[in-house]
Amino acid sequence: MGICDSSMGLNSLLLVMALLLSVSTFPFLGAAALKRRAYFNETADLPCQFTNPQNISLGELVVFWQNDEKVLYELYLGKEKPDNVDPKYMSRTSFDQENWILHLHSVQIKDQGLYQCFVHHKGPNGLVPIHQKSCDLSVFANFSQPEIKNTSNISGRPYINFTCSSVQGYPEPKEIYILCTTENSTVKLDALMQISQDNVTELYDVSISVSIEAPRDTNNVSLICVLQPEPPETELYSTTLTIGPEIIVNSKTDIDYILWIAAALLIIVCCLVFVLIKWMRKKQQPNHSHEGHEHETIRVEGRESGQTEDRVEDQAPEKSDEEPNSP
Ligand SMILES: *[C@@H]1O[C@H](CO)[C@@H](O)[C@H](O)[C@H]1NC(C)=O
Ligand SMILES: *[C@@H]1O[C@H](CO)[C@@H](O)[C@H](O)[C@H]1NC(C)=O
Ligand SMILES: *[C@@H]1O[C@H](CO)[C@@H](O)[C@H](O)[C@H]1NC(C)=O
Ligand SMILES: *[C@@H]1O[C@H](CO)[C@@H](O)[C@H](O)[C@H]1NC(C)=O
Ligand SMILES: *[C@@H]1O[C@H](CO)[C@@H](O)[C@H](O)[C@H]1NC(C)=O
Ligand SMILES: *[C@@H]1O[C@H](CO)[C@@H](O)[C@H](O)[C@H]1NC(C)=O
Ligand SMILES: *[C@@H]1O[C@H](CO)[C@@H](O)[C@H](O)[C@H]1NC(C)=O
Repeated sequence: MGICDSSMGLNSLLLVMALLLSVSTFPFLGAAALKRRAYFNETADLPCQFTNPQNISLGELVVFWQNDEKVLYELYLGKEKPDNVDPKYMSRTSFDQENWILHLHSVQIKDQGLYQCFVHHKGPNGLVPIHQKSCDLSVFANFSQPEIKNTSNISGRPYINFTCSSVQGYPEPKEIYILCTTENSTVKLDALMQISQDNVTELYDVSISVSIEAPRDTNNVSLICVLQPEPPETELYSTTLTIGPEIIVNSKTDIDYILWIAAALLIIVCCLVFVLIKWMRKKQQPNHSHEGHEHETIRVEGRESGQTEDRVEDQAPEKSDEEPNSP
């Protein structure tokens, strides 16, 4: 109790002192900062909301905007004064005198933050602050339309992998997911969001990868990717990716293909076996076939001419002569 009370007392005392200090030096600091939004690479409007009730001419005023003690723009007694302008903001601003708005062009993510507009009156006693306004700038970048892709190849079956990605947005989206719709139901497929940030632009790229069982029946499966940015930005949807008949047909043709190869191999093997069997049969009965062949040649020779018959007869006695020698 004691510690809490005393510290709270100290805190509120400091707060009161700070308020008193700021009010005495700047009577307008208490006013809440305006909130402004801008899109990346577009123009931000930084209002000053100065109404100039006394209709003081610009020639008597010193007007400037600053952020983090860096000067964006200065209008000194009616003339633009670039001397104090930070290089970061050089030639990126334009002042709308009528509405007291400073336009900051080509807004970057780095430009987010608090901006202050100061108006001083240059009187006989030097500069007198007469107006101050703060403006809190946030920068957004719309993510690209999510893109969903089938990332699996034939080896990946029976699962089909999908990746959905969206690029160059800011800030980090709340979530990204895939809605998988079958005949009877819609399922939300969640996965860990992969996120990367560009070093220069500070924009984010996000993606998720999911895998689903390849549909087995003839019903289609529809996939749509949804990116939910930080409000107030609205959800972004990819185009619908339908899987079904094509892939089923493809897998069927694959099976057919394998069957065809198997059938062809079977036929080749059968032919080889058949030829082999025939060849082995031939080898097993070599004499029969040889005898038949001799008979045939003799018959042919016999039909051919009488001369050969004579020769055969001539040779016969020689053969009979030799026979006793051979054993
Ligand atoms: C910024 O906008 C300009 C045109 O206004 C364009 O040429 C440039 O590519 C944009 N830069 C980025 C990073 O989007
Ligand atoms: C403000 O002063 C200008 C001249 O400096 C004058 O033309 C204009 O009418 C004045 N406007 C008002 C509202 O007093
Ligand atoms: C197919 O998958 C293998 C590993 O499973 C991978 O190395 C290859 O890059 C993939 N090819 C395509 C076109 O996706
Ligand atoms: C599909 O994703 C799973 C993990 O989710 C992975 O194991 C598999 O290799 C992937 N298949 C293909 C073809 O990319
Ligand atoms: C979808 O519903 C129909 C009837 O409503 C049913 O015949 C069918 O089997 C269901 N399909 C799946 C994949 O559950
Ligand atoms: C599946 O989708 C195709 C178009 O991609 C469509 O022509 C077909 O009618 C769909 N089939 C069913 C069962 O929804
Ligand atoms: C960003 O998207 C919003 C809708 O969510 C749209 O009103 C706005 O014009 C878009 N801004 C840019 C720079 O595309």
